[in-house]
Amino acid sequence: MSTGIEGLDIMMEGGMFRGFSLLVAGGPGTGKTSFGLQFIHEGARQGERSIIVSLSARPTKVMSLSASIGLDLQPFVEQGLVSFFYRFPTGLNAHELFFQIQQRVEEGTVQRLLFDSLSDLQTGMTSRSEFHDYVYSLLDLLGTHGVTSVLTTGLEEGGGQEGQVDPTLAMMVDAILLLRFEELHGRRRKMVSLLKMRGTDHDAGSRGFKITSHGVVVEAAFIERELFR
Ligand SMILES: Nc1ncnc2c1ncn2[C@@H]1O[C@H](COP(=O)(O)OP(=O)(O)O)[C@@H](O)[C@H]1O
Ligand SMILES: [Mg+2]
Repeated sequence: MSTGIEGLDIMMEGGMFRGFSLLVAGGPGTGKTSFGLQFIHEGARQGERSIIVSLSARPTKVMSLSASIGLDLQPFVEQGLVSFFYRFPTGLNAHELFFQIQQRVEEGTVQRLLFDSLSDLQTGMTSRSEFHDYVYSLLDLLGTHGVTSVLTTGLEEGGGQEGQVDPTLAMMVDAILLLRFEELHGRRRKMVSLLKMRGTDHDAGSRGFKITSHGVVVEAAFIERELFR
């Protein structure tokens, strides 16, 4: 399944398998939500049904971010192809949310899901193990029903100054994208690396990317880096 981002599909040797889970990790403002929205927009363009679980922003805000990067979700929402599950992270009833997702997924009509973000989910949980059990169950549910997912997360302390991906989460998902800023010639560039990809001989290198008025654009090849300056 295409992620909707050509350069990323190339990095992932064609895209994602049905039922795959992709963790998009990175600090604030690196573009995690944008990657997720592109994935959802691409599905909807192909007539696939999807759910956006948004714990950080109201649907109206998500839709305007999406529109500002050239991804108009409005018609898809109106057609019922894209549905929002918006919950405020404080006082979140995570189990009620799980039940609602489960009900929808078990209808068998959902192909894609964006969960934005796992960090917000974790905020409302009493322990790490409760959080991990929740994500594990969610991924199991999605995988069983062939729902392909993008889950966003911040980084946690450790693994250098930028932080690291929660190692338990890293084990659970099929693929991991790390988004970060890199200083190059005095300019800050956005970089994406594929840290993990189950089932393919993936390209482990890093590539530059841009968030543009026509979506997320990932460099096609290392040589083209020069052109992206
Ligand atoms: N229309 C736009 N054109 C270019 N860049 C944009 C646009 N809208 C947002 N951005 C950039 O996208 C980034 C935020 O993306 P977002 O996906 O919300 O990040 P995250 O979810 O990781 O916090 C910021 O760096 C912002 O500058
Ligand atoms: Mg975000």
